[in-house]
Amino acid sequence: MLRSNTCGELRLTDASKTVTLAGWVQTVRDKGGVLWIDLRDRYGITQLILEEGVSSADLFSTARSLGREFVLQVTGEVVERNSKNPNIPTGEIEIRPTTLTVLNSAKVPPFKIDDETDGGDDLRMKYRYLDLRRNPVRRNLELRHRVAQATRRYMDEQAFIEVETPVLIKSTPEGARDFVVPSRMNPGEFYALPQSPQTFKQLLMVSGFDRYFQIVKCFRDEDLRADRQPEFTQIDCEMSFVEQEDILQMFEGLVRHLFKAVKGLDLAEVPRMTYADAMKLYGSDKPDIRFGMQFVELTDLAKGKGFPVFDSAELVVGINVPGAAEYTRKQLDELTEWLKRPQIGAKGLIYARVNADGSVKSSVDKFYSPDDLAAWASAMDSKPGDLILVLSGEADKARKQLNELRLEMGTRLGLRNPDDYKVLWVLDFPLLEYGEEEARWFAMHHPFTSPKPEDIALLDTNPGAVRANAYDMVINGTEVGGGSIRIFNRELQARMFSLLGFSDEEAKAQFGFLMDAFEYGAPPHGGIAFGFDRLCSLFGGADSIRDFIAFPKNNSGRDVMIDSPSVIANKQLDELKIRTMV
Ligand code: AMO
Repeated sequence: MLRSNTCGELRLTDASKTVTLAGWVQTVRDKGGVLWIDLRDRYGITQLILEEGVSSADLFSTARSLGREFVLQVTGEVVERNSKNPNIPTGEIEIRPTTLTVLNSAKVPPFKIDDETDGGDDLRMKYRYLDLRRNPVRRNLELRHRVAQATRRYMDEQAFIEVETPVLIKSTPEGARDFVVPSRMNPGEFYALPQSPQTFKQLLMVSGFDRYFQIVKCFRDEDLRADRQPEFTQIDCEMSFVEQEDILQMFEGLVRHLFKAVKGLDLAEVPRMTYADAMKLYGSDKPDIRFGMQFVELTDLAKGKGFPVFDSAELVVGINVPGAAEYTRKQLDELTEWLKRPQIGAKGLIYARVNADGSVKSSVDKFYSPDDLAAWASAMDSKPGDLILVLSGEADKARKQLNELRLEMGTRLGLRNPDDYKVLWVLDFPLLEYGEEEARWFAMHHPFTSPKPEDIALLDTNPGAVRANAYDMVINGTEVGGGSIRIFNRELQARMFSLLGFSDEEAKAQFGFLMDAFEYGAPPHGGIAFGFDRLCSLFGGADSIRDFIAFPKNNSGRDVMIDSPSVIANKQLDELKIRTMV
């Protein structure tokens, strides 16, 4: 080995030892008679010191030739420092070199390799290998590693078997578009990259594997956001001979184990909420329950008083913002403009302040008497000093908009502390949702999800009302996982495909293999998949999953470091028979 120790491990107890370190030059401080070098590796920073009269002229001359990020090997004695640095673990010692060997020189890096860097996003991504030298980014990947190891430990202890499933597969309809790969040996035909290993893990249950998991790459060609990447990682799991409750227990156990192992936190009992309640109380299927401000419906109180906007609304719904009555007219106007942006699309915002004496002053006093407004305040359980914010319109839209407003107010009031973790199960999702444009039903989770047995009769009469044995895990308003109990009966699966608008032939062509398998003794089964990158970013207290992925894509789906996607040579296109097809 080119070193005896790392740059993070030497302490005062090592004084007078002769050691060899290797790493990157962080800084060189040259005071003439004394010269310090900070040497950095993955484990930390160790200071080297050269002093006139003690260190040779050769050492000084080598040291003065060093630039930032040169790769250096040093042998020398560990000595106690005169002025100690309590901020770093090696701050009590320094190395007095006897030899300095430049293992490699380096160009001046395009940004500072420091905790606080001067590099913009694009530059950091182009030189991601340099960005990864920085502590915060390296720490994120170390955290990711710990989450992966802790996951494997738990799953192994629970008798799950890690099985790899193929990456070149056939399209699985899970909502997003597929990435496809042309097949040279089968001209005109394409593989699809898996959006998830869904059908394979179900087949493994038919094979009797009973408990499967995989930390696995998934690919989805969808619009990107802070919590979405075109290739991302799932902790994908499936179990046989289980009911929903068994899955909830098992994977609450996994998350509890991860919080303990990675964060040292004891997770409280995970509350459960139905999808219907989540939508009614928070306007979202992934409510952030770190703070209150639940929705209160004011439709009955607000209608029929001559205010045309509310009178024509399907729903009038509000939140009570504690202690925000001092919001100025200017702040409220600005909030209204924020709500009117196309991303949210509200028509306007009605507000009412609850004064210190309990009286209520609203932006619609013209239409509502003090008693009317007192009734609002009472319905909302408002206290003096609170601010009531009300939206109205078509029910689904008003709820979605109020969800945005609630989250924004939570952020503004500092109620969304990333170190405060609130985990939630959302249960009883609808099985189907109606696509107005396509004029057909879509599976809300995926087509293999089982309806609740008590709702099966509704499949023919009122498909929209059928609830699924499907569940999501939500942490701090982020959907970190989702799964369901599956259909394991060929007839029910065929009925589901037909509801989703597949002809018998189409269903057979796409999913014949699964339906055939169901005829060879498929056990009852169910599972879940966690967004691994999302879990890591939550544990790391960050909103974006990008910094928890070693080599992520940017928001246009590009890897700017390797410059991908890229055009390919005509020869390759010819081999793939791509051009001859068009
Ligand atoms: P689902 O589609 O809900 O379920 O995905 C599971 C979890 O994966 C994460 N996730 C993503 N993370 C980053 N980037 C993306 N583009 C992205 N898309 C999804 C989310 C989500 O909760 N096969 C089913 C699971 C099952 O039924 O067992 C599935 O894939 O955190």
